[in-house]
Amino acid sequence: MKATENSRVSGSASHKLALLGGAPSGVPPKPHYPRFTERARRHIDEVLREGKMVGLGTAHPWLGAAERAIADWQGTQHCLTTSSGHAALHAGLMGLQITGGAEVITTPYTWGASTSPILYNNALPAFADVDPDRGLLDPDSVREAIGPRTEAILVTHLYGQPANMTALCEIAAEHGLALIEDGSQAHGAKHRGKRVGSFGDAGGFSCMGGKLLATSEAGYLVTNRDDVYWNAVISCQHAGGTEDPGRADEEGFPSDLRPYIDSLHYTYRVSVLNAILLVDQLAKLDEENANRTQNRSWFVEAIEGVQSVSVPEYPDGDPVYHMVSLNFRAEHAGISKQTYLAALQAEGVGAFSYIEVPLHRLERLRPSTGAPRTMFAERLERAGMDYAALELPGCDAKVERSFEMSWNWIDEDREAMSRLAAAFIKVEEQLDALRSYERQLR
Ligand SMILES: Cc1ncc(COP(=O)(O)O)c(C=O)c1O
Repeated sequence: MKATENSRVSGSASHKLALLGGAPSGVPPKPHYPRFTERARRHIDEVLREGKMVGLGTAHPWLGAAERAIADWQGTQHCLTTSSGHAALHAGLMGLQITGGAEVITTPYTWGASTSPILYNNALPAFADVDPDRGLLDPDSVREAIGPRTEAILVTHLYGQPANMTALCEIAAEHGLALIEDGSQAHGAKHRGKRVGSFGDAGGFSCMGGKLLATSEAGYLVTNRDDVYWNAVISCQHAGGTEDPGRADEEGFPSDLRPYIDSLHYTYRVSVLNAILLVDQLAKLDEENANRTQNRSWFVEAIEGVQSVSVPEYPDGDPVYHMVSLNFRAEHAGISKQTYLAALQAEGVGAFSYIEVPLHRLERLRPSTGAPRTMFAERLERAGMDYAALELPGCDAKVERSFEMSWNWIDEDREAMSRLAAAFIKVEEQLDALRSYERQLR
């Protein structure tokens, strides 16, 4: 989008903003999401009638089918389905044995569940900065954050945007660090032609009901490393030893782990019903992702003249648009982001700031927090961690300017995109009115 002050917005009749008492612009309602097929419903019904609800490993036909399909699609050796995305990331850390105060360099600009598995595995997050346009982990800042206790890097492909995996893989290899990817918002995003989740030593994905690969509640871990897979298995799944075959009965289970087949594990296995949904939803994911991308292109094209927002670019990758993230240009608009979003919302646009407080400023991570006791509060205290003192200007800039729209437009719909864009155009044409409105509020 050009940032020239004089270019004109076109394509809509200007009229009074809904925020100021006018009629809303007629933005299409949020699409129904997620959508499950008749076939999936039939399979679920069959399993419920037959009662084959215990699935401890790939011997169960639906768990086996889900894990094979996901590993093939991700291009990884292994897939371990889990009960959630948090469980998948935790399983990855357990598989890699990142614990005991080890430091994991990670992003503060993400959903907390990218970081909480680090904390709940008795390791310490070390927050590096992000780039101010996309909000993705900045490799230069990662380099600077490496210290004697660093054992891993955990990167999040936020909003479906692929992070710079070339640079991060290089850093990890150079310093002997493990690399973990949080692809919870990015199933199918590619960096230089390769799907995220398959670059690092472990990739964790959420498949809760709002995600690109949506079930009810589920997740999966993918890895090319046998040791990571089997360590994760015995840490978080029922390995076997009962009447139902479990993971320890699978081909390749390492003999040196046999003494540790017990019940001292998290119960992070996926439900059989969600395994059915994983198989069925995956079959249509590529098409839905392509439609989201097409819709986003139409939308971006239609807001070409709107100078109050800039649109991030992706020279090295193909995002998948779990959300569309845009940057507000206060210097052009002359109003606050809060007022701008209020105007869009009044028109019916579901625009919001997904991350208002970055993780390093969260109250529960403060040294003397009054929050209920946790294992990590003590660990952070002992390590003398004071995240609030961190200066991360890229993160501050992204938080200040960024806003998002969830993007569950899984059918191609050019008409909906131009109606959505029309609301942005209407607000752009009425910036003067919003400036006066703000002045009156002062
Ligand atoms: C970036 C990110 N990481 C991790 C998670 C955790 O996933 P779940 O809710 O399935 O545990 C989420 C889900 O909201 C997420 O958005």
